[in-house]
Amino acid sequence: MKKLLIIALAAFVGYCNISCAQNNRSDKNNSNNMKDKKILVAFFSRADENYNVGYIKVGNTQKIAEAIARETGADTFHIETVKPYPAAYNPCIEQAKEELRTNARPEIKGDIKVEDYDVVFIGFPNWWGEPPMALYTFIEKHNWEGKTIIPFITHEGSGFGGTDRQVAAACKGATMLKGLAVQGKAAQQGADATVKEWLKGLGY
Ligand SMILES: Cc1cc2nc3c(=O)[nH]c(=O)nc-3n(C[C@H](O)[C@H](O)[C@H](O)COP(=O)(O)O)c2cc1C
Repeated sequence: MKKLLIIALAAFVGYCNISCAQNNRSDKNNSNNMKDKKILVAFFSRADENYNVGYIKVGNTQKIAEAIARETGADTFHIETVKPYPAAYNPCIEQAKEELRTNARPEIKGDIKVEDYDVVFIGFPNWWGEPPMALYTFIEKHNWEGKTIIPFITHEGSGFGGTDRQVAAACKGATMLKGLAVQGKAAQQGADATVKEWLKGLGY
């Protein structure tokens, strides 16, 4: 009887160990389990004068990028052009329009090794219904094969307007998850709750 009990107990312990290991494995393989991943927030954002917000010290998209980094513990990279954009709004929109017309690739300052990360949040403002062309300068420097990318945009009415699909097409081989669009003015006023809610939906 005692021998039978020991065998039964050993079998039970063995079952628990296997079941536990399987649970751990399935947690690790769950693509929604972002907490195990190496995360980067790469964003373009311009301060100075902008539509609906006046002169700002920190760009609208940067505000959202910082909120994401605070929540996820991600590294950040600010995509900045070597030649700064005009501080005043009207000359800036004219320059952006010309860059769009010529499909320009403005030179950017520095770089970060995207290849070292599993998940890359990619943030940018809506400029004439497109991402700023410097975003493509950054994207085209890197290999996106196997990466998870998550777009976020700030805007003053246009939302993503298809720019998320354009970014997905440029990041060849990456898988895109659900992005977030925030009005620029709302980003300045503090959109932490919106960011948190969205991140929760992504598994954070
Ligand atoms: C060059 C330029 C073009 C813009 N074009 C649009 C547009 O087509 N649609 C829109 O909703 N907002 C447009 N905006 C407003 C920006 O998308 C918005 O202010 C954004 O939050 C700016 O982000 P940032 O401060 O991070 O650069 C434009 C702003 C600029 C400077």
